[in-house]
Amino acid sequence: MFDEIAHKYDFINHLMTFYMDNYWRWKIYKHIKNNNIKCKNILDIASGTGEMTKKLVRLKPEILYACDISEKMLKLQKKKIKDDNLKLFLTNDHKLPFNNESVDIVTAAFGIRNFANLDEYMKEIHRILKYNGYFIVLDMFYSVSLDKNLFYKFYFGKLIPRLGNFFSGSKSAYDYLFKSVYSFYSVNEFIEYCTKFGFSNKFLQNNLLNTVNTVYLIKREQ
Ligand SMILES: C[S@@+](CC[C@H](N)C(=O)[O-])C[C@H]1O[C@@H](n2cnc3c(N)ncnc32)[C@H](O)[C@@H]1O
Repeated sequence: MFDEIAHKYDFINHLMTFYMDNYWRWKIYKHIKNNNIKCKNILDIASGTGEMTKKLVRLKPEILYACDISEKMLKLQKKKIKDDNLKLFLTNDHKLPFNNESVDIVTAAFGIRNFANLDEYMKEIHRILKYNGYFIVLDMFYSVSLDKNLFYKFYFGKLIPRLGNFFSGSKSAYDYLFKSVYSFYSVNEFIEYCTKFGFSNKFLQNNLLNTVNTVYLIKREQ
């Protein structure tokens, strides 16, 4: 599905968020920088066309890894970002080619909501992160305002899926993308879910009406 929409992905994302998606990703860069969070090596999962990755490049990590399941998304990213320290790789399941406790930060922007095997990813991310390393998740979470706020209901439920399908030329990719928000966790449920895998919530940023959030989790000391 992501191969199908790759060529128009950035354009549609910016259009439907009025470019705020760019700002939400930039805030992650700023938070890491301002809080002096260790970032020698970073992994951006579900990195797609590299919109999150390009913000992370600015942190000048020794190595920045970016992976995705879609070859087309990664090809676009390769064209977009020229940086010697960036290593791209294709994944086909949750297994990540890193040693235990070897990564400082894992980021996932608008990715994990679509993971079929999220539990397995959580275990794997926990395995590769150093203790007190960060797992930073930017995503759309379920919120009651999606059901109660009429504007939201219309905008996310009807307008955006139609525009997304129209501009991408896909029949239903954007219907799926927005339906997936309704079956995903609320942000508080998500934090609760993450604690089961050994993460603690360090900081929560509500970017838009409790729906678009950035969750800063750390791998707990044992
Ligand atoms: C909505 S895009 C987000 C891309 C990018 N992180 C951004 O901020 O724009 C979601 C990405 O997740 C990838 N993806 C979906 N399932 C995946 C999986 N199981 N493992 C790795 N990547 C996956 C898709 O191919 C797609 O590029």
